[in-house]
Amino acid sequence: MHAFGITAYQQPLTRMEVAEPVVGPHDVLVDVEAAGLNHLDEKIRAGEFKAILPASLPLVLGHDVAGTVLQVGTDVRAFAVGDRVYGRPARPGTFAERVAVAEADLAPVPASLGMAEAAALPLVSLTAWQVLVERGRVQPGQKVLVHAGAGAVGSVAIQLAKHLGAHVATTASGDGLALVRELGADVVVDYRTQDFAAQLSGYDLVLDSLGGDNLTRSLGVLRPGGRAIGIAGPPDPAFARQAGLNPLLRLAVAGLSSKVRRQARRAGVSYEFLFMHASGEQLREITALVEAGTLRPPTVEAFDLGRTPEALAALAEGRVRGKAVVTR
Ligand SMILES: NC(=O)c1ccc[n+]([C@@H]2O[C@H](COP(=O)([O-])OP(=O)(O)OC[C@H]3O[C@@H](n4cnc5c(N)ncnc54)[C@H](OP(=O)(O)O)[C@@H]3O)[C@@H](O)[C@H]2O)c1
Repeated sequence: MHAFGITAYQQPLTRMEVAEPVVGPHDVLVDVEAAGLNHLDEKIRAGEFKAILPASLPLVLGHDVAGTVLQVGTDVRAFAVGDRVYGRPARPGTFAERVAVAEADLAPVPASLGMAEAAALPLVSLTAWQVLVERGRVQPGQKVLVHAGAGAVGSVAIQLAKHLGAHVATTASGDGLALVRELGADVVVDYRTQDFAAQLSGYDLVLDSLGGDNLTRSLGVLRPGGRAIGIAGPPDPAFARQAGLNPLLRLAVAGLSSKVRRQARRAGVSYEFLFMHASGEQLREITALVEAGTLRPPTVEAFDLGRTPEALAALAEGRVRGKAVVTR
């Protein structure tokens, strides 16, 4: 079958012929109708993770899928042939005609969504869920700063934080300013003309998706004991442990975030890195929120599957408005 992947790091995404997926007892074979593109695909292509999370090449990329069930493994209980499913499989491979995914990583597509919209949701909505619910345990009345609110993660995070009852501030620019207000943000900071660090204080949680100086300055908006959860890095020792890295790599990874963790400690707050994980169970919660009208997916910019390399290049160069999705 046709697929898109890499044969070497830092080379362009290329079309390749690969074997049909092997369907294990707990797997569901999905006919891929739409696949979302994520910065993770570009970062893997560029070799950014090869020291920490090496992949065996050639590798089919793609971390989001929406499609119809073609076949189920002998032990699959939750899905049947013909079901509309979506998910973020634990391993990449959705830029292909078909993909085998563990049933535990899938959920039913929200009835109100088409396949392209559904494929825009899994990775970014699970990220927002894991920052705000699983890790952050956001409570009603808490103050949450969501950076890059007009982005794919940010737009879902604003809606979810509002649903959890939080007071939400966000950073955005240009057309994004109107979008984030529409999504429910209480305080909107135009990052091109205003300084969020000078305007905001007393926040319980910051979702940082930019890293660097943005992360460092975010520590200053937290109340004592507040938490900055970063998804753009730097990675922390807990991540290195979870990833099963050897002691030398663990030390190296810890070193990447030692400065910001020290700065956080001195300020009486904390910094932690989050690398999202697959979860069909959490995605079912997302499905329910979409069906209830509480959550809507990012706006989709659709490309034909054949244009996957072009779509990934557009994403990497910041030329996509909304969420890039390839469809068949
Ligand atoms: N660790 C994880 O598990 C995980 C999971 C998901 C994503 N991520 C990472 O999170 C980042 C965001 O992902 P995404 O899919 O949401 O990206 P995206 O959809 O491309 O969003 C990027 C957004 O960043 C905004 N932006 C750029 N500079 C900004 C600044 N200085 N202040 C505030 N906003 C700014 C842009 O707003 P304008 O258009 O208004 O300029 C744009 O809306 C990526 O680095 C991705 O790799 C990590």
